Amino acid sequence: MSERTSDTEKAAGVLRAGGLVAMPTETVYGLGANAEDPVAVARVFEVKGRPPSHPLIVHIGSADQLDDWAADVPDSARLLAGRFWPGPLTLVLRRGPRVPLEATGGLETVALRVPAHPVALALLSAFGGGVAAPSANRFGSVSPTTADHVRAELGDAVDLVLDGGPCRVGVESTIVDATADVPSVLRPGGVTREDLEQALGFPLAVHATSRVRVPGQHPSHYAPRARVVLVEPEKVVVEAELAQGLGQRVGVLLPPSFGDAEVNAHAVVRLPGSAAAYARGLYGFLRELDERGCDLVVASLPEETGLGLAIANRLNRAAGPRPGDGPPVGG
Ligand code: TXA
Ligand code: MG
Repeated sequence: MSERTSDTEKAAGVLRAGGLVAMPTETVYGLGANAEDPVAVARVFEVKGRPPSHPLIVHIGSADQLDDWAADVPDSARLLAGRFWPGPLTLVLRRGPRVPLEATGGLETVALRVPAHPVALALLSAFGGGVAAPSANRFGSVSPTTADHVRAELGDAVDLVLDGGPCRVGVESTIVDATADVPSVLRPGGVTREDLEQALGFPLAVHATSRVRVPGQHPSHYAPRARVVLVEPEKVVVEAELAQGLGQRVGVLLPPSFGDAEVNAHAVVRLPGSAAAYARGLYGFLRELDERGCDLVVASLPEETGLGLAIANRLNRAAGPRPGDGPPVGG
């Protein structure tokens, strides 16, 4: 038995015993529990500090298991599962009888995904059932993209951390409401809108027309400790130096258009040119700026196409109002 096999066998045993396993996926690390064990699922909410009304994604081992976990699966959902699984796509469907209401936050729908990571797939195969897993971070904070991030954030609260190396995609899966014949995107992520529409052969519905509620999409989510301000790309250096001059410890996410320009700031992350590399690095960059003691992160939004849409969504949320903030000035 290879070391990897024995690790995943052991992790499957932890899940069967009602324990929690942090597992690598291609997007971010997940905090997993047996989806059919309401007590284990309750522990996930407790460890994350997440309100129990926020549903979890149920990870399954293959698209062949779709009908075990969902009911009334539309053809368009089958097509997307066939095309993008294993991969960074989550399909919201009508809940099948195997899914307890604890995992769906009481909803009659369930979010399903087959992750494209060899360790996650080995775990799902060894375990046999579904693994309910949110991102393995405390509620509201930045998702973990390495096993060290998970250990730093959750420590002893998880029974076992499977180390699968750094996550390849780096931002969470795209969540699609697939309950209707014309699906819509509820959260942009690792599969682009363009790829989805190409696979379907017709345009997605616009989000606002979806009848599916999306609990857990709070304005402030994916946030580092430091405050995040978003400015026009060409103003990043000016704004950063202004705030630094006022005595703040400023971290900068510097767009590639600035080249190797000198910036008078506490910490500078020079962003890669490709959206894929930016997505892969994003959460690590935000963690790094926290670790370096920044009070403020100055950034700009990338072009909102392809993966840029997911990056922009996370930055907007990171910059959103935080719990305890007063009402916005001027109402
Ligand atoms: O890439 C990912 O999606 C990662 C990895 C671990 O798979 N997971 C992840 O889970 O990001 P989490 O819990 O951080 O985000 C799941 C999102 C939540 O915003 C939740 O509201 C939404 O999925 N969701 C889950 N079930 C849903 C449902 N039945 N209807 C609508 N939204 C749902
Ligand atoms: Mg999350």
